[in-house]
Formats: sequence, structure tokens, C-alpha cells
Amino acid sequence: MPLVSMNAFLPQAKKEGFAVGQFNVNNLEFVQAIIEAGKEERSPLIFGASEGAIRYMGLNNVVALAKAAAEEADVPVALHLDHGSSFEVVMKCIRAGFSSVMFDGSHYPFEENIRLTKKVVEAAHAVGVSVEGELGTIGGVEDDLNVSEEDAALADPDQAIRFWEETKVDAMAIAVGTAHGMYKGEPKIRYDIIEKVASQIEAPIVLHGGSGVPDESIQKAVSLGVGKINVNTENQVAMVKVVRELLDNNPDMIDPRKYLGPAREAIKKTVKAKMRLFGSSGKA
Ligand code: 13P
Repeated sequence: MPLVSMNAFLPQAKKEGFAVGQFNVNNLEFVQAIIEAGKEERSPLIFGASEGAIRYMGLNNVVALAKAAAEEADVPVALHLDHGSSFEVVMKCIRAGFSSVMFDGSHYPFEENIRLTKKVVEAAHAVGVSVEGELGTIGGVEDDLNVSEEDAALADPDQAIRFWEETKVDAMAIAVGTAHGMYKGEPKIRYDIIEKVASQIEAPIVLHGGSGVPDESIQKAVSLGVGKINVNTENQVAMVKVVRELLDNNPDMIDPRKYLGPAREAIKKTVKAKMRLFGSSGKA
């Protein structure tokens, strides 16, 4: 199938009470692992590409890899810009072939975030590309984003509802207590915020920082209206564990296929488990 916008599966996810995973890509092996997981689980999926990953892999390579993977699969696949920082970056990605974008205006004052997000929605929707907006500040470290615990700010539910009514984004990321990266303790998720916002808007809620969140917390969040969950760190941890072990135990190993192949398998296993947990397995 060609790449599709998130609207090919998010409305169904919200209606049927499951969530679709956004799995961030960092190199070829991530793309291969994620698509294989999706095919085996018969699950819709979202390839997430951050600006940092795009710089590392090259914009055209990201699009070419995602397109090739999607075309040989019979499950719906979206290629989504993660935390797009400006209108210009968003337009560049859409022109290159992304089927979905996030515009992260959460660091702007509320009204300015609405104004800028609306501009992105108007342009993206004109060419069939879905849009995710963000309100509140998600803590932790991801590429260029580094938000300390003190600076992380939960989304105000009334503002989130107004934000959606004005922008009509297809997916609504709100800060509800999760953070990018692994957690030291357990995240304190504000289910009341998820529930209030999800019940008042048509779009599903997006949970960023999906790595390391206990299974029961994920299930509860999904049951309350989370329809998209982002995962990156857990796949990185799974990959590097295998690479480290193999290289530590085999000092003569030099062929990258020998350690990246098993690492790819480890990512695939992690992604498959997430698809089952999120309830998206069998939904394609
Ligand atoms: P984790 O790295 O914590 O899984 O978060 C990923 C994410 O939210 C991408 O936007």
C-alpha cells in the first residue's frame, strides 16, 4: 500500500478503543523491524521521524525507506514528522512525501500555538496530510528537546478542548505526566485529564513517552481515549542490549549484519509486544 494519513486508522482506533503505535525510526533496521512487526501482527502503524532522525538519515532516505516498506506491506502505514518545530520544516516534509505531521507549538503562548497550528492544518489538510498538535510540555529528553522535570507542564483540559475546537487537529498530544526516555520511578499519569479531553473532542489523545510506562497504565489510558502512543527509547534499549552483548562476547565480530540483524529482531519483538498491548494487532 502507498503511505496513508493517520486518518486511515485513527478514527477507527478512537471508536473501537485501541491505540496505534508511533514507532520512531533511527536507521534502516528500525524501519525493517517495525514493518515486519506490523505485517505479522496485522496492525496499522506509524513510522515516526524526528528532526534529529531526519538530519541523521537524510530526508529523502527517510521517505524512500518508509515508502518502500509501506508498499510491500498490506497494512496501513503513515510516515509522521515527530515534534515538527516550524511551518517551514512541516512543509519540507510534506513536499518530500510525509503523509502526516506533528506541529509542536507547545512552547508558544496558547493563542499563538492555536494560530500557528491552524496554519499547518490548513496547508496539510489541503493535500490530505494529517496533523497532530501539542499542548502542555512533555518532560524528558528527545533529540533537540530537553525539558527538565520542573519545566514539564501538564495540559489544562479546558484549553485542550478549545485548542482542538479551533484547530481541528487529527490527533491531540497533551502533557499528562509521561516523559520522553525511560522513567526513574513510575510516571504519574493524570487519567482525569485524558478522560475529560477525550470525551469532549473527536480526535484521539496522543501519549508521548510511551517507553517504560507499565502495561496496566497503558491499558487504562487507552480505555479512556488515548488512540496513538509514541515509542522510541524502548526500541533503542532493546537494540543496544543485543549489540553490546554480541560485541562484548565476540571481539572479532566486524560484519555489521552479524550484530545489526539480531538487534533488528529485538526491536521487532518489542514492537510486536506493544502492538498487542495497544490493541492494534488484528485491526489492519
Ligand atoms: P519515548 O522515547 O519515551 O518512547 O518517547 C517517544 C516519543 O514520545 C516520541 O515523540
